Amino acid sequence: MKGIILAGGTGTRLYPLTKVTNKHLLPIGKEPMIYHCIKQFVSADITSVLIVTSKEHMGDVVNLLGSGKDFGCDLTYKVQETAGGIAHALYLAKDFSNGEKIAVILGDNVFEYSIKPYKDNFLKQNNGARVLLKEVGDPERYGIAALDEQHILEIEEKPCNPKTNFAVVGMYFYDNKVFEIIKNLKPSKRGELEITSVNNAYIELNQLEYDIVKGRWTDAGTFESMIEANEILFSNNNEILK
Ligand code: DAU
Repeated sequence: MKGIILAGGTGTRLYPLTKVTNKHLLPIGKEPMIYHCIKQFVSADITSVLIVTSKEHMGDVVNLLGSGKDFGCDLTYKVQETAGGIAHALYLAKDFSNGEKIAVILGDNVFEYSIKPYKDNFLKQNNGARVLLKEVGDPERYGIAALDEQHILEIEEKPCNPKTNFAVVGMYFYDNKVFEIIKNLKPSKRGELEITSVNNAYIELNQLEYDIVKGRWTDAGTFESMIEANEILFSNNNEILK
């Protein structure tokens, strides 16, 4: 399985911290944010990893991470010319994925425990996709899943009236159909290709499974959540728990 880290976007919610640098290079605990994504993949034995980031910051990202040898993985890079959304960034991984299953992490997501069990569950699936859910206190900020006992019925992106508190977090597993699905997407009202539309397409096919995230999780996309991300990683010395 190949890994993809999406580290583009504009980071406007963290301005002026992101005025001259990329969000994923900001410190979380004792390390730059993007280290955590790489360490998560390596913890799950995913060692062929593509990093997608913007043209402005690619030089700094490559300077920081190099070939990946210090992390025990092999890094490839791809430029996202405009911040056209998460699914737009993911489409750039089409050739890299080379027909294999993929694991995708949003560069600002922080998990206390390794993602390996979820990867192992996805490998047992014949096809389709797998997402991870976590109960949150501020559901208006995320993709939110409506559920029955076994399945996700629908995901709404940043709903005004959330049906549940289960956020779809920024770690996704897909089979190779994902690129065909993205090719047929239309931009949302905010002009982006949404990852939630991709996941809803898998629901239509009856091929979306899920796990509940163990331990603490947050993204680091706002000042408040960045403080939480710092607490999670600093308390564990930037180690990922097994
Ligand atoms: O953190 C979980 C949430 O992430 C999910 O619950 C939502 O469904 C999902 O849409 C996403 O919401 P955000 O509003 O937090 O997404 P954001 O625009 O902050 O982008 C998250 C990461 O994706 C960002 O750190 C870098 C990457 N990205 C984003 C965009 C818009 C790209 O690589 N390229 C892009 O064009």
